[in-house]
Amino acid sequence: APGGPLRGKRIVITAGPTHEPLDPVRFIGNRSSGKQGYAIAAACRRAGAEVTVVSGPVSLPAPSGCEMVRVETARQMLAACEELMPSDVFIACAAVADYRPALETKHKVKKERGGLTAIDLIENPDILREIASRSANRPGLVIGFAAETDDVLGHAESKMKRKGCDWIVANDVSPGRPAMGGDQNEVTVLGFEGDKTLPLMSKDALGDMLAAMIGRALGG
Ligand code: C5P
Repeated sequence: APGGPLRGKRIVITAGPTHEPLDPVRFIGNRSSGKQGYAIAAACRRAGAEVTVVSGPVSLPAPSGCEMVRVETARQMLAACEELMPSDVFIACAAVADYRPALETKHKVKKERGGLTAIDLIENPDILREIASRSANRPGLVIGFAAETDDVLGHAESKMKRKGCDWIVANDVSPGRPAMGGDQNEVTVLGFEGDKTLPLMSKDALGDMLAAMIGRALGG
């Protein structure tokens, strides 16, 4: 393993979307390229950490030197994360589907046989909240993300309290902002030495900044 401020630390990070199947060929999912999560994973690895990425379906190469656990659904993502506990740090970067279809049909739904005009949904587990509220084996540092389109800092602050995470990385995903699908991001990290607003930078550079902040918080 490389040396660096995160040497010897175990980091688990979720990335990408989840896909919640309706039938063998259809799913409900979020828009997420996985780029920011993969960039953070690679940066933490460069800083010396042992990194495991629990990844939903994305079309990106595995970040160099990281362990990969590939999943499809929110429930699989939660189970994989729980199995990887305890870790020193947990980072929830995935865009998890909040709901899943109540029923998954074994065979493809056919228009000719009445098709599908409504979908019953049930709530998915909140992975970040589950991990942050563990009584045993809670990671020492739990970091969430909040993608918002209005009152970004206000919503992020209440999200941090509701979910029980230590930091939340807030970004504005309004149309015309750089984050969605692009290679750049502009965020405020709430909970780190007060709040820290970072300038617009590449997702790779933001990964390096976060890795450095984590190193500082862990006293490295
Ligand atoms: O509630 P919202 O989806 O905006 O919260 C975003 C944060 O919560 C992100 O860190 C995301 O990875 C995490 N999350 C999760 N499980 C869910 C929903 C969100 O881990 N079911």
